[in-house]
Amino acid sequence: LLSISDLSAAEFAKLVRNASAHKTAVKAAFAAGEQPPKPLHGSLTGRTVAMMFSKRSTRTRVSTEAAVQLMGGHPMFLGKDDIQLGVNESLYDTSVVVSSMTSCMVARVGAHSEVADLAAHSSVPVINALSNDFHPLQTIADFQTIHETFSSPNSTPSSESSLGLEGLKVAWVGDSNNVLFDLAIGCVKMGVDIAVASPEGYGIPERMRQLILAAGEGVAKPGKLFETRVPEEAVRDADILVTDTWVSMGQEAESQKRLKAFAGFQITNALAERGGAKPHWKFMHCLPRHPEEVDDEVFYGPRSLVFPEAENRLWAAVAALEAFVVNKGKIL
Ligand code: CP
Ligand code: NVA
Repeated sequence: LLSISDLSAAEFAKLVRNASAHKTAVKAAFAAGEQPPKPLHGSLTGRTVAMMFSKRSTRTRVSTEAAVQLMGGHPMFLGKDDIQLGVNESLYDTSVVVSSMTSCMVARVGAHSEVADLAAHSSVPVINALSNDFHPLQTIADFQTIHETFSSPNSTPSSESSLGLEGLKVAWVGDSNNVLFDLAIGCVKMGVDIAVASPEGYGIPERMRQLILAAGEGVAKPGKLFETRVPEEAVRDADILVTDTWVSMGQEAESQKRLKAFAGFQITNALAERGGAKPHWKFMHCLPRHPEEVDDEVFYGPRSLVFPEAENRLWAAVAALEAFVVNKGKIL
């Protein structure tokens, strides 16, 4: 699982539904003092999941370790100073060796080619835990959060490729980055419109635009992509306002330049009002958060879904491990 673009709309919708179903079932079991329900319980017994992280992480690390543990397996965290990769050993050698001893590699890297190369040479499934281009586990959790917030509990989606979210509008205000690219691909697949407002020079690169648009191929009513330089335009009629840091990991040297370029892009209640967001608008952010991209009033306010969204990273990890490791890539 390197990007949401690897999945059909039906596969993506199923992963999101599975994540939600596991959340309900496991929480009920824990509340009753029971083990996680079968078939999850023990589904990774005896298996090791290697977690190769070249960058820091709170949510991705904790959710992956907790998910593997919940399923009875052993999460093996390998930080950048723990293994030979990148200093004494090549990606190819590392991939062949680590995959010969484990059942899955979950990798957080810089250049996307690093996780793609790991996958190309691995004998076990590889899950992208964030690259410079994509963050698929975040997108599964984000759609789980949108599904849990906006799908009517009694409505039956029109097909297995649908989460019943067609017609919603997401407004992304901020940097066009890895989190946005997979989120936009998910939106197009689920019939959710997405408007992206980024300053000049920080918009969606052409190859990503093509990939986002291609996500609509074969989808009955794909979501539409709008791009603008004006935050108010993106926010108009939006159901969900989303942002992420203006300075991603690895861009620290550009901090000052970026903070200047993004002035005026902070999400606030005043921006939502000026732009004309829907009255019920909600706020999402993958975290970690900095106050420049969203003020405290919105971030900690009643419209904010950020903490359920963060918790859903656990259930997204469970659903992904079940599909790619337990069921060998079949999303059942
Ligand atoms: N959202 C997310 O991936 O957070 P971490 O960097 O803490 O894993
Ligand atoms: N865009 C951020 C996401 C962190 C989860 C980064 O790449 O640092």
